[in-house]
Amino acid sequence: MLFLPSLLVVFHFILCLCEALSVTATKTYNISNDPEGSVHLNALAFQQHALITFGDYQYVAFYATGPAGYGHHYVNLGRRRVTPSVGDWQTFAFTDYDQKTLDEHNTISMGISGDGKIHLSFDHHDVPLNYRASTMGIAKTIPSQWTQSSFGGSVTHSLPGSTGPWTPLTYPRFERTANGDLLMEFRIGQSGAGDSYIHRYSSSTGQWSTVGKYLQGQNNNAYINGFTSQDGRLYVSWTVRETPDASTNHDFYFAMSEDDGRTWKASSGQTVSKPITPSTSGIKVFSIPQKSEIMNQEAQCADSKGRFHGLMRDRSSGSAKWYHYLRTADGKFTKNAINVAVSTPPYLQYRGKLAASGDNLMAIIPDAPKNTVTIWGSTAAGNFQDWKSLASIPNMAGEPLIDYERLNTSDILSVFVRQGGPYGQRKTQVWDFSLSL
Ligand SMILES: *[C@@H]1O[C@H](CO)[C@@H](O)[C@H](O)[C@H]1NC(C)=O
Ligand SMILES: *[C@@H]1O[C@H](CO)[C@@H](O)[C@H](O)[C@H]1NC(C)=O
Repeated sequence: MLFLPSLLVVFHFILCLCEALSVTATKTYNISNDPEGSVHLNALAFQQHALITFGDYQYVAFYATGPAGYGHHYVNLGRRRVTPSVGDWQTFAFTDYDQKTLDEHNTISMGISGDGKIHLSFDHHDVPLNYRASTMGIAKTIPSQWTQSSFGGSVTHSLPGSTGPWTPLTYPRFERTANGDLLMEFRIGQSGAGDSYIHRYSSSTGQWSTVGKYLQGQNNNAYINGFTSQDGRLYVSWTVRETPDASTNHDFYFAMSEDDGRTWKASSGQTVSKPITPSTSGIKVFSIPQKSEIMNQEAQCADSKGRFHGLMRDRSSGSAKWYHYLRTADGKFTKNAINVAVSTPPYLQYRGKLAASGDNLMAIIPDAPKNTVTIWGSTAAGNFQDWKSLASIPNMAGEPLIDYERLNTSDILSVFVRQGGPYGQRKTQVWDFSLSL
């Protein structure tokens, strides 16, 4: 009994030596035509999430132009089997909601609670909540038909059972907790003056309840890099902005919660009072002044070894670069430039993503002038500074989104992207990268 684990460790170590982090196979799937017009409504960094695997199926949420043509979009939901083998995509449009606001804030976010209900929230920029959820647990008890009527329900402007405020709302995000409940996070207020709230859906009662305001602006607002639940811990990192002008973004902040957002701790482990404000002691981890070319809502992830990873840009070294922020399991933060071959400056260009698998970290970084998205890999053994290119996606004009669940369960990095090019040719796509880890 004592020998077995150590033999496994040795065996795994040998495997890792011969198969370093690499992409072994790539598959591409067209999902739909991307909407008509110059406004991006699909593939924006703050969509949490657009691509999720739950059980044997993968789900994708996207907008497509409806029959009324330019400026009229439907929320669409796709599914395909991914286990044990990959099936064809099936999609349907929600035809009872005509999305008309041509604004890049007005994206779709999707969450799936442990009871198999699919939750969608969409079409916000400082407006009342738009929310709908499947009436049945359709990701658990799989309906044979994939139609709006198998989804059921209608759009509501509050979360059933919970208490607002529900407006002016922007940037809804969903994240499942360790027990299968679903958290929803969003901003109330506006750019330069906003607060962030959390609500919780119970998979056992089917009701929402209020967790409360957890971030509060001080004549400014937090722009979070993500809202990440990993092994019972909830992580959030952010920058703060004073005005709608992105050049007023400043500093890197971090907090974590061990009770799904009810109470919060600074990186030191010290409990902080709620709501957290930019002046809450211990919350600011790195000081970066305004006018440092920080882009808000970049990326973050956590890994199974207790590490937190953040991605943000700034020009503290003289020219704008992407930085990897690392918090080790024992609470030490470092910040290192990601020295890879990308066009400069990356300021205000498309945002990237981070994804981890064990001791491997991937930075999925768009290069707008080259119309590419490249997956860069690094390892804990290389102090996450041994970045190498694993794969590139051509003809990209948007921000990649990651299926974290699928990576966790299958060693496939599944990426939702928006192509460049004219309407009619430009697709939303899913790319599957099989990884050797
Ligand atoms: C995606 O659609 C384009 C245009 O219709 C087509 O040329 C291409 O082969 C399709 N790609 C895949 C992977 O089906
Ligand atoms: C990955 O799966 C493990 C075990 O199934 C779970 O503890 C962990 O929270 C999952 N992480 C993500 C990112 O889904």
